[in-house]
Amino acid sequence: MALDNMLARRVALRRHLEGNLRADDFLVEDCSVPTTDDGTFLVRNLFASVDPMLRIFIVSKPLGNATMPVMPPGTSIPSAAVGEVIETRHPDYKVGDLVEGRFGWQNYAVSNGQGVNLVPSAIAPIENALGGLPGFTAYVGLEAAGGVKPGQTILVSGAAGAVGALVKARGGRVVGIAGGEDKRRYLIDEVGYDAVADRKSPNFHAQLAAALPDGAHVYFDNVSGPLLADLMPYMAFGSLVLISGLMAQYQTGGVSEKDNLPAVLHAVMGKGVRIQSFSQFGKDAERPAFEQEVAALLASGDFKPEIHVIEGLDSLPQAQVDLFENSTTGKVVSHLVFGKDARLALDVAKRIKTGTVNVNAFFSRARSSSGGHKMSGIGRERGVEGIRAFQEIQVMNLGSAS
Ligand SMILES: NC(=O)c1ccc[n+]([C@@H]2O[C@H](COP(=O)([O-])OP(=O)(O)OC[C@H]3O[C@@H](n4cnc5c(N)ncnc54)[C@H](OP(=O)(O)O)[C@@H]3O)[C@@H](O)[C@H]2O)c1
Repeated sequence: MALDNMLARRVALRRHLEGNLRADDFLVEDCSVPTTDDGTFLVRNLFASVDPMLRIFIVSKPLGNATMPVMPPGTSIPSAAVGEVIETRHPDYKVGDLVEGRFGWQNYAVSNGQGVNLVPSAIAPIENALGGLPGFTAYVGLEAAGGVKPGQTILVSGAAGAVGALVKARGGRVVGIAGGEDKRRYLIDEVGYDAVADRKSPNFHAQLAAALPDGAHVYFDNVSGPLLADLMPYMAFGSLVLISGLMAQYQTGGVSEKDNLPAVLHAVMGKGVRIQSFSQFGKDAERPAFEQEVAALLASGDFKPEIHVIEGLDSLPQAQVDLFENSTTGKVVSHLVFGKDARLALDVAKRIKTGTVNVNAFFSRARSSSGGHKMSGIGRERGVEGIRAFQEIQVMNLGSAS
């Protein structure tokens, strides 16, 4: 395929972060379309994912001083994306296949198939495939907590975000924490949360107390930070704090003067509260069960997650900053198709409308018959090792686009 006259752009890391993430920590630049070798294929990205977790890959010191390789400035941002195969020298992928993988914030990526899933044509809109990341996170987290048990109440922070909104999908009594009345209403009216406390309201603690008369048995913690200690009075005896992510701490780089570790330790000693983290990376063995369960939920119509579509590569840096400063509801993805490609543009335009759309086919992705989900093949089981494996895949898949 002649690609010489086609516009290629990418978002790269300009510099490692210092303090809060800023849009100009990223660089949007023209680049050449990468070329394929034997055993690889070329993808034109259609949608790219915006995830808070990306932030931990673009700092100079890995989370918790882990032995994760530091991503050098100049590297393309390694996000998940969905795209179409437009050139192939790989026996398992053909031109026209819709694929999901870590193709990055760029128009084109070459892949050897590692960590790539085929997106079945039955899925419409195709950007739904990116919902797999937060949905699978919610699923794996609840599994790590021992599943949803009758009589238990699960408390979820960042509840209106991509992961939090999906914790309710597995049922059970679920209480959310969200910032603002709009999000509170969204979670109750559209997602089906049993109760929601608005962390920005002066009545926040009264709302929590009313929603948790017997305390929370599991706290699915997407944000951590000072909120963690504030919630200890509402934890039941022997309950579990399940650390999913650290939204409130990614920006500060670690601790803030408002953190209150002693209050947390008092709950650990006094009430037997346990603290545990989990990672979805390296959990591919759980994917078939996850996909089956979600397919049933979608078919029943009980599951209506939300996708927020922004336009173009240039809007990605600010969208990433907004996750921390001005978050919206649901999953944020960027639409990357250019008007030059009339067929694709028409196809996509038929299937989406810009803005927030309800999606009813979020997770029913087919597993690649050709060895998709190979991330687990690297053999990492636990969080940091899993993340390290993930990052190694980025380097293999993305390299440097220029
Ligand atoms: N463990 C894993 O394998 C794994 C995988 C993927 C993601 N994650 C983690 O899951 C978490 C949620 O991801 P997501 O994709 O759902 O993110 P998201 O869509 O951006 O939602 C995050 C939510 O966090 C809340 N938040 C942001 N900053 C906050 C602060 N300073 N204090 C309190 N709340 C704050 C916001 O809710 P309100 O303002 O409404 O409260 C926002 O809706 C992240 O921490 C991410 O790293 C974990």
